[in-house]
Amino acid sequence: MSDVLDFYDRHPISEAQVLAALRRRRGALAGGPLTADDLFEFDQDHYGGLAAVDTLARLGGIRAGTRLLDLCAGLGGPARFLASRRSCQVVALELNAGRAGGAARLTRLVGLRHRVSVVRADATRLPFAAARFDVCLSQEAFLHIADKAAVLREAHRVLVPGGRLVFTDWVARASLGDGERRRLEDWMAATTLQTLDGYRGLLGAAGFHGVTVEDLADEWRAVLRRRLEMFRAMREDTVARLGEARYREYDALYAFFVRLIEAGKLGGGRFSASR
Ligand SMILES: C[S@@+](CC[C@H](N)C(=O)[O-])C[C@H]1O[C@@H](n2cnc3c(N)ncnc32)[C@H](O)[C@@H]1O
Repeated sequence: MSDVLDFYDRHPISEAQVLAALRRRRGALAGGPLTADDLFEFDQDHYGGLAAVDTLARLGGIRAGTRLLDLCAGLGGPARFLASRRSCQVVALELNAGRAGGAARLTRLVGLRHRVSVVRADATRLPFAAARFDVCLSQEAFLHIADKAAVLREAHRVLVPGGRLVFTDWVARASLGDGERRRLEDWMAATTLQTLDGYRGLLGAAGFHGVTVEDLADEWRAVLRRRLEMFRAMREDTVARLGEARYREYDALYAFFVRLIEAGKLGGGRFSASR
């Protein structure tokens, strides 16, 4: 677990980077009230942008008043997007202290505290009573959790009967080698990666039914190539905040990851299931 904390403590996407990008865009932060929309270009740490969040929202049937739990919510970008567009009530759960604090501060900055609350906790041990939520959602995060059965069991426990779990995550293909798996773990805190069928089995074992699985490998290939180019375009800014060594280190690990996606050794999956 310390690996994943360290990875996000030194991640190029951070509260400081979001605020710096916003300042560059607006000149200053004090130029009139900010809304969640002002942050969306910078605060989403998953693949496919707002359209990807919207697709999960549709699969989950998220609407006004839905009690939503965003598992591994990062800086709270998807939580604020859903709260502002769908008027749902969101709990954004995040393990990393810097990210949980950042999520709370950015939410306050855009006046969404009445719709989004941030809880710092581990997704495998949820600090909530049973049947507390209508929908659980997560994006590109379970890859960091070794005990995937535990997080799915916990999601099942906190959902109401008939509630929905919707998420996207990395998935391993048969051609992913042991050495490549080890490197992903060492470099990106990515662990016990599942296949599409592996996830289907885990969801059934956790008690979910009506499982749907979509292969996102083709979609992600183009998206990730663009994200790598975007990271490289922000070189100056990243070096100024994190130093040249960390920029180079992150560049190497991200390029390795994108090569695995392009080679079809690693892919993505979109999953939905009912409690
Ligand atoms: C790639 S980011 C995704 C953030 C967010 N879902 C988004 O789309 O913007 C993955 C996040 O998962 C968090 N995380 C990893 N393991 C976790 C755990 N066991 N419990 C809660 N959060 C966790 C990380 O700290 C990180 O913020």
